[in-house]
Amino acid sequence: MTVRGPEAVVLRAHRTDVAQPPSAVLEVVTLPPEEPGPGQVRVRNLFQQVIAAGGDLMFATSQIPVPVFRPGEPIYGPAVGRVVESRATDLPVGTVVLHMSGWREESILAPGDAFPVPEGVFPGPEYLLNQGVPAYHGIVDVAEVGEGDVVLVSGAAGGVGSMAAQIAKARGAARVIGIAGGPEKTRYLVEELGLDAAIDHRGEDLDDRLTELAPDGITAFFDTVGGSQFEAALRHTAHGARFALCGVLAGQVGGGDGGHPRLDIMTALVHEVQIRPFSTRHTPEQVQAWNTHYAEWYAEGRITFAHTLLDGTLERAVTAQDELLAGVHRGNVVVRLADR
Ligand SMILES: NC(=O)c1ccc[n+]([C@@H]2O[C@H](COP(=O)([O-])OP(=O)(O)OC[C@H]3O[C@@H](n4cnc5c(N)ncnc54)[C@H](OP(=O)(O)O)[C@@H]3O)[C@@H](O)[C@H]2O)c1
Repeated sequence: MTVRGPEAVVLRAHRTDVAQPPSAVLEVVTLPPEEPGPGQVRVRNLFQQVIAAGGDLMFATSQIPVPVFRPGEPIYGPAVGRVVESRATDLPVGTVVLHMSGWREESILAPGDAFPVPEGVFPGPEYLLNQGVPAYHGIVDVAEVGEGDVVLVSGAAGGVGSMAAQIAKARGAARVIGIAGGPEKTRYLVEELGLDAAIDHRGEDLDDRLTELAPDGITAFFDTVGGSQFEAALRHTAHGARFALCGVLAGQVGGGDGGHPRLDIMTALVHEVQIRPFSTRHTPEQVQAWNTHYAEWYAEGRITFAHTLLDGTLERAVTAQDELLAGVHRGNVVVRLADR
């Protein structure tokens, strides 16, 4: 009898342009069968997370501090799965684990690469597939958001931004304003995530709205977009504001020069704006700090898992990557993988 190997998403060739959809360089292939070695487990993946940075790792080079994907090889990313075969005493069959070797039906993992999902904390294991670690690090450690702050979050309906905006609220900010694309997303931010206000960057004038919503200026800015949104935020800064620079979506997906906004140095120096770019390394301390607060705030009803749940196969995850970059979804994007 021929044993069929697991399916996986493989990079066919590098992306060469931000306008090129990821699906143009990805394909689902069947891998050769693989057995877990001593101390390893076989994990059947249940949920695949889709994130913007995945699109960057499809280029030949990337400044993101993790390895780029290599042509002819499976790509990787955060996933949750169940142990179906175990040669590791501390990960018995049935354990549900979080890991980084997703984008495949099955993953062979060593215990150090598989993190058991705590039971009973969240409604489902997919709740661990969120971008809370950089959001928490950026809002708490970098922007130092606390009570009384007037916080602006760009990309607020996206994976990182939706968590960052909620964390700012949970930290006691006086006002949290999100920027997102389209009235459906701005409604979502206010009515479902509890932000104080939201601005539609596709249909509204940023300066007019910031004058109205933050008449004394913003005291903290969590920026995932760059470009003209960064420039507008600086025009509406309060004295001594902290600008935590997290991402450059306007350059990663917009095809423009979003990664190179003009810095009005005079405004920055007169207002002594503290511009603080950061790159979260997911250290054990950073991961633990977020997970502890996430569980507490979730139990208290102060934060929600902002997400879009899609159903399908690995092919659906590939199209979801295109859709994420096109702004189709909101929150953290997770695909619930169906059995073939
Ligand atoms: N510094 C770090 O440690 C760190 C860690 C993780 C991620 N990041 C970065 O954080 C950013 C957000 O990542 P994510 O995975 O959460 O992505 P995401 O926000 O879910 O990305 C998709 C969103 O990008 C927005 N978008 C699309 N085209 C745009 C354009 N031309 N201008 C402005 N926005 C546009 C869309 O939102 P709208 O429809 O609302 O415009 C879309 O929903 C990325 O830059 C990522 O690389 C940084």
